[in-house]
Amino acid sequence: MLNETMGKAINDQINAELYSAYLYYAMSAYFEEQGLAGFGHWMRLQAIEEMIHAQKFFAYVNERGGRVVLAAIEAPPKQWDSALVAFEAVYKHEVHVSSLINKLVDLAQEEHDHATYNFLQWFVGEQVEEEASASEVVQRLKLAGQTQGGLFMLDRELGQRAITLPPQAQM
Ligand code: FEO
Repeated sequence: MLNETMGKAINDQINAELYSAYLYYAMSAYFEEQGLAGFGHWMRLQAIEEMIHAQKFFAYVNERGGRVVLAAIEAPPKQWDSALVAFEAVYKHEVHVSSLINKLVDLAQEEHDHATYNFLQWFVGEQVEEEASASEVVQRLKLAGQTQGGLFMLDRELGQRAITLPPQAQM
């Protein structure tokens, strides 16, 4: 059984994951408008990953006898100055999300909630990947994104991104 403190904190995290999806959909729309369909595609897949994260927390709360309570999702920004600025914002956001996950881990320890502590380890590992993939694109944009040719090459490459949906996300 999930206690109230832990349940409330995970509900907040569901909201944070859904906000992340909103943010990346907003970035996808921005890139589509800029004629950078590959970047737009990358961001849409990132948004889907965030919804899968929210779904994992949603399923966990239900499994542990808690109650999911959905709150309003803040509107994301609409505009960024460049692809580099947008990806720097992705990296910064993921570092923030990592800190939220770390706080949940701390809380699970304080609450002696070993099951939640164990469940959260997947997210600890996932955040390492999330930060690394955003940081890699930032570095690539710094190196190659300064010319129109380099930017379009990177756009084609990011357009190849694929994800495999986990079984619980195939609805
Ligand atoms: Fe759900 Fe990008 O962290």
